[in-house]
Amino acid sequence: MSDRKKRAWLDGAVGYEIYTRSFADTTGDGFGDINGITENLEYISWLGADIIWLTPIYPSPDHDHGYDVADYKAVRSDHGTVADVEALLERAHSLDLRVLLDIVPNHTSIEHEWFQKAIVDPTSPERAMYLFRDAGPDGGPPNNWISHFGGPAWTLDEATGQYYCHLFLPEQPDLDWRNPDVLDAFDDIYRFWFERGVDGFRIDVAHGLLKHPSFADNPQLREVGPEAGPLAKFFSFDHKYDMDQDDNIEIFARWQTLADEYDATLLAESGVTDHHRLARFVGPEALDLSFFLKPGWLEWDPAKFVDEHLSLAEIEPDGISWVISNHDQPRPVSRLMRGEPASPTNDKTGINRSLAVTTLQMVLGGVPFLYYGEELGLSDAAIDPENREDPVATRNDTDGGEARDVARSPMPWDSSPRNGFSSVSPWIASEDRPPHETVEAQRADPASPLHRYRALLETRRGLPDMHEAPFERLDSPSDEVAVVRRGSVLVIANLSGNEVTVSSAGSGWVEAFRSRDGLVSIGDGFLTVGPELSAIFRADA
Ligand code: NOJ
Repeated sequence: MSDRKKRAWLDGAVGYEIYTRSFADTTGDGFGDINGITENLEYISWLGADIIWLTPIYPSPDHDHGYDVADYKAVRSDHGTVADVEALLERAHSLDLRVLLDIVPNHTSIEHEWFQKAIVDPTSPERAMYLFRDAGPDGGPPNNWISHFGGPAWTLDEATGQYYCHLFLPEQPDLDWRNPDVLDAFDDIYRFWFERGVDGFRIDVAHGLLKHPSFADNPQLREVGPEAGPLAKFFSFDHKYDMDQDDNIEIFARWQTLADEYDATLLAESGVTDHHRLARFVGPEALDLSFFLKPGWLEWDPAKFVDEHLSLAEIEPDGISWVISNHDQPRPVSRLMRGEPASPTNDKTGINRSLAVTTLQMVLGGVPFLYYGEELGLSDAAIDPENREDPVATRNDTDGGEARDVARSPMPWDSSPRNGFSSVSPWIASEDRPPHETVEAQRADPASPLHRYRALLETRRGLPDMHEAPFERLDSPSDEVAVVRRGSVLVIANLSGNEVTVSSAGSGWVEAFRSRDGLVSIGDGFLTVGPELSAIFRADA
């Protein structure tokens, strides 16, 4: 058993994800850049976040918006330079902010020099860094694995008749994590950035690294029709042989040991939904943190939200990064209203629901993350079908429901053209946001979502028991209501559509935060909270 401890700077921290190309453009090319982030670090610090995570900044042919990396030890020129990253780190550290980059170890780009060599010379050592396999008995792909983004997970290398494996696009060939050369190459990449002061990494597709040595067919769980989107098809299989292999944990332990030398953190992107399997990703023998992505996929289902959060927090009260949104999902303000009749107040209800869930996440330990624009209560961006950028949408003949573009539009800073993001048309053609959705307007309005999110982070910072004291799940009046106590802090997350009275909490509480305007009343031995409202109480000292 290792005696490794979680690093101190993670205690009580809150993260903020930046979709790098959409945050702020300082060069006038319509593309966000590193200096644009540096210029806006004060805003993030004012909001109260402690850690920023930047989506990939490396050279890339952009088949999957930077998640197809051509060189892990460089910065793409339209984002800036390595020196810009160093300047960002310096400014961030002076504001007490930590910076995580995104590392993409499951696959490279087809333009990475390793893959180029692997194709040109099948006898090269680089060939063995990827997963080339002979054709199956029928001359087709070696097995029935499919890609997340549509079609088989295998593409033919015509020159040799072999296929290479890719769990995402054919332009994203998977690496062979059973090859020690691959392990060594990534150790070197980590060190390159740690030496420059990077505070850690978010690890893309951490659950996908190793494949089962048998390369057996995955069992199919259910039939889906041809009209189903690629992800629905992907999840119609039991990914027994291509995802979440037990021995991935050994790679995590190796990496975290390396990161420990630099007091750096590692955070898995894990699509694993089983709570016990996910808990294995974190702890003294694995990584500091793992995302739990499921709350970012769910549509509004109060009992499910309560259960998914509390059950996992009881198993792992320290190592989870909680989220309800990221760059791969529709914005929660829209998603949590799906299926509801259209109404002018939908956005407001969507914001209330988002913030009610986020408030609960703030008491579950670990390091919760906000996604840029979430603090403004942004709904999905309006993007015309002909302007879609996401390969999941452009390469599949489905209804586009799985397109991720709606969550990737420019940060609305102010009401000037293009919301102050850029002096020219942004890389993604989306409509400007109205004034009340901008940072400028919301900073000036104490009743805005921005001020509420800021107050929530301030409350968490001011009440260390919220993440330090032992986690206790108290009796709740309904399965749509979470009641959590941590020492001198109590949180009632009432996700139901009704007012609820909680008697399990006892007396002596003072209100510290409420997620929306609405009823919060403190009685003698009970607390009452209005519908779709989460409230934080502190013990009356
Ligand atoms: C997860 C990333 O968040 C997503 O944007 C990307 O397409 C896939 N991994 C493949 O790298």
